[in-house]
Amino acid sequence: MSIKHFLQFKDLDAGELEHLFERTRWIKEKFKQYIPYQPLGDRTLVMIFEKASTRTRLSFEAGMQQLGGAAIYLNTRDSQLGRGEPVEDAAEVISRMSDLVMIRTFEQSIIERFASRSRVPVINGLTNEYHPCQILADIYTYIEHRGSIKGKTVAWIGDSNNVCNTWLQAAEILDFNVHVSTPPGYEVEPERAGLYGTDHYEEFGDPMDACKDADLVTTDVWTSMGFEAENEERKRIFADWQVDGDMMRVARSDALFMHCLPAHRGEEVAAEVIDGSQSVVWDEAENRLHVQKALMEYLLNDRN
Ligand code: CP
Ligand code: NVA
Repeated sequence: MSIKHFLQFKDLDAGELEHLFERTRWIKEKFKQYIPYQPLGDRTLVMIFEKASTRTRLSFEAGMQQLGGAAIYLNTRDSQLGRGEPVEDAAEVISRMSDLVMIRTFEQSIIERFASRSRVPVINGLTNEYHPCQILADIYTYIEHRGSIKGKTVAWIGDSNNVCNTWLQAAEILDFNVHVSTPPGYEVEPERAGLYGTDHYEEFGDPMDACKDADLVTTDVWTSMGFEAENEERKRIFADWQVDGDMMRVARSDALFMHCLPAHRGEEVAAEVIDGSQSVVWDEAENRLHVQKALMEYLLNDRN
């Protein structure tokens, strides 16, 4: 059987996602009841980080240990990756010593080059273009709180970044709609987002219009990792794209608020929203652990 990678959200189809969400529920339940579940004994995950992380590292490392396996952390600073070793050579070597690789890096092309030479499945832990594990957790969190996301409206406010692109891919596969509002000049680039079409999203100049009647309002930092030089300019340009109480009030009364974290209160989100009653950001963060355990199990066991 060919190796299954998870490099972008659309690498999984609707049936596979349904399976993963079912397994997530089961795995989470066992975890909450302190019942060990260790189907990945003797398996080794290598985690490669070229950018900072709290949640992604923690959830993959803890998740792999809980499944009975081991996780090894590599970063650019203290490995040969930062000293110009070709990605292809690194892939050949790392994938001979491990069963699964997770990578957080810059351009999507880097992870694609790695995967093309890897003997084991490769998972995208965030690139400039996508953050598929995050949206697995976000959609699972939506389902937990509200049921199926099919036909629902997600309002994305702010930068059309890696997390936004991944929401847009998910909308095409799971048949929901995304209302996007970005400042002029920061609009969605459908090709970069890897979309099949433009049917599942609509762009709004005014973020209040994007939030109107939304089932879920979500945002992310104005300046993503790797773009720090633009930070001051972005703070000025994005000032009207802060998710605040007024935006939540025009959304549906049972709308949820999500943020992948880390968040900047007073920038992309007001404290009253992220710390308010509609916010599910802590469940969202926790669910990274549970969905990624289901994902690792799927890539290593279920497909064999
Ligand atoms: N949301 C997320 O990926 O967080 P980290 O950058 O802390 O991994
Ligand atoms: N868009 C953010 C997400 C961080 C988890 C970034 O790429 O920095």
